Amino acid sequence: MSNIKEKGMQYNLYSWSAQKAINPMVITKAEGIYFWDEDGNKYYDMSAQLVNANLGHGNKAIIEAIKDQVEKMPFIGPGYSIDVRSDAAEALVKTSGMKNAKVFFTNAGAEANENAIKMAKAYTGGWKIFSAYRSYHGASAGAGMLTGEARRFANEPGPAGFIKYDGPYAYRAPAQVNFKDEDDVADFYLELLENQIKYEGPQLIAGIFMETVVGSNGVLIPPKKWIKGVRELCTKYNICMICDEVMAGFYRTGTAFAFHNFDVELDLVSFAKGATCGYVPLGGVIVSEKIQKHFDNNKMFCGLTYNAHPVGCAAVVATIKEYERLGIKENVAKQGALLADILKDMAKKHPSVGEIRHIGLFSAVELVKDDQGTPLVGYNDDPEGLMPKIVGMLKKEGFSTYSNQNVLMVTPPLTITSEELTDAMKIFDRVLDSVDKMI
Ligand SMILES: Cc1ncc(COP(=O)(O)O)c(C=O)c1O
Repeated sequence: MSNIKEKGMQYNLYSWSAQKAINPMVITKAEGIYFWDEDGNKYYDMSAQLVNANLGHGNKAIIEAIKDQVEKMPFIGPGYSIDVRSDAAEALVKTSGMKNAKVFFTNAGAEANENAIKMAKAYTGGWKIFSAYRSYHGASAGAGMLTGEARRFANEPGPAGFIKYDGPYAYRAPAQVNFKDEDDVADFYLELLENQIKYEGPQLIAGIFMETVVGSNGVLIPPKKWIKGVRELCTKYNICMICDEVMAGFYRTGTAFAFHNFDVELDLVSFAKGATCGYVPLGGVIVSEKIQKHFDNNKMFCGLTYNAHPVGCAAVVATIKEYERLGIKENVAKQGALLADILKDMAKKHPSVGEIRHIGLFSAVELVKDDQGTPLVGYNDDPEGLMPKIVGMLKKEGFSTYSNQNVLMVTPPLTITSEELTDAMKIFDRVLDSVDKMI
């Protein structure tokens, strides 16, 4: 074992793992869409790390902006106005297209959601918060309870008032329902949601959260009618509609924010990851005119020592400029179309592929073990560690990504070229050949 790994295992606690069950690889270099281990092996970063390295590794403009800010003023308290603080908020509001919105900055995604919860409660006077079972919203006390998937359990019993709903997921809908089309899917889940709102007392509900496109829980792309329908329900019952764009934001789905695909007006939008692409940590909430005006005369009980940290803000300004300069929107359109074609071919070729889902460069491959679409592993039930094994097989071949339940994520940096994408997906194809043989 190298000294780096040995020391890491001695002193670090690694996330979401039994410490003796893991073997953290030693990484010595990262550049573009690649990273290298200490033995010189090269990996395609096909998850963009935690779906945050949207601009890949080693972007010079972001690095320079961070260096400049560290030299100029690494820190000044959150109550002061400084150039990058104002510029970053302006750039985010303009990118969001939300008229007269304002930004409250945080350190990362979970805190963004924590503060969105507080704002929704303050605005509506309600205290219940809805979110989807198939979701991940962070690991802190509130965001952990907002999370629908199993990573929530460690937070339970948590603060009260977190209610879960079933969001649209046509592929795994109850066998009795036979959807004709996307509108039908939306109608079905909207009816369930409105019933739940009534059962819970609409006057008690502060917010309905959703990942605009569900990320780690399987890249679930909702019908347009669902998003519009949730907006109507929120307006009807005076509930805040809150989209978590921590993962889906910043061109991942092809548009600057994922909600731009759905032609909808939101009350609150949480963001993080792609705002700085991980070069420094930063997140926040874009607060619509309606909500931010509430705080004109009502005290906003939100604050952090590192709210709107100057170095984070400098990184935001540079990152947003880089998305423009590098033509990321256009590249996602081009490479997203290529990835869609490749995935469609794989779905035809491999019996182990049940469904593929993709929007922009946000995609997932759902693995099954038979023609009936039985998931390759059960929900929270993979005693043999089959999915980690498949992820390991991919990694051994130089394709780094992660899985959740029976789903493999394919979410490369948005800077990927057609050649890189085609080459990387050849590895994926080969590993799926082996998975086919396993089933
Ligand atoms: C949709 C979504 N929301 C929130 C979070 C939490 O963000 P963070 O880990 O920066 O706290 C994540 C992290 O993966 C996420 O994917």
